[in-house]
Amino acid sequence: NFMNELSGFHELEQQIKGTLNLDHVIITPGNSDEHDWVKQELGKAAVDYLQSIIQSNQTIAVTGGTSMAVVAEMMSPASYAQNSMFVPARGGLGERVENQANTICAEMAKKANGEYRLLYVPDPLSEESYQSIIEEPSVKEILQIIRQADVVMHGIGDAVTMAKRRKASKDVLHKIETGKAVSEAFGYYFNNVGEVIHKVRTVGMQLEDLSKINCVIAVAGGKSKAKAIYSYFKQGKSNVLITDEAAANELIKGF
Ligand code: G3H
Repeated sequence: NFMNELSGFHELEQQIKGTLNLDHVIITPGNSDEHDWVKQELGKAAVDYLQSIIQSNQTIAVTGGTSMAVVAEMMSPASYAQNSMFVPARGGLGERVENQANTICAEMAKKANGEYRLLYVPDPLSEESYQSIIEEPSVKEILQIIRQADVVMHGIGDAVTMAKRRKASKDVLHKIETGKAVSEAFGYYFNNVGEVIHKVRTVGMQLEDLSKINCVIAVAGGKSKAKAIYSYFKQGKSNVLITDEAAANELIKGF
């Protein structure tokens, strides 16, 4: 669009779109690793994009993380869409409360004048609890809403950074390191060819559900995340990337 042409990233966006085989790419200036304002610009671009595609009465499923927290911080009401419903994409993944999908989704709804529904499930579940929790009527109802989301917005993290931040057990960390996981998204850990090395057992959207959703938007920037972004898109479940200049310049070099 016109603004992107002006900012001079049009060509870079086209290149990344081709390299990663995406429908749409947006690049904001700078390196998120270095300055907070860069991450805020990224968040603002994500809000603008969401507002440009969202229609009235649609459901938006969101993940946790610091990038998504900034998207929530920048959120404002959309002028053309009413009655938006925000839901967390998946249950707890071991994050601090400010980085949890539930918290982010409630803040987004408040700022967008929308509605929200939350998932009350404890962090990483045992197989036994998982099976009984998904049978709870209140959980079943919200899971239904999540799976029918119109738009999904999520972060992408570096695998080891994410496992440590979420205080993964020694065994899980070992699995992630020996499996050479590079990226993380939705509680799934991927290696450099996009294979799933580990998956956090929790309710909500599963990787395979993403293929049924038309608009899956990844929000991830910073030079340090380029490898992770590249790895995540190897299995290609998202079709839009909102990133920054520093990550984009690394991405076009390939890995
Ligand atoms: O869910 C977390 C994301 O995969 C990455 O988190 O935005 O804090 O880097 P982040």
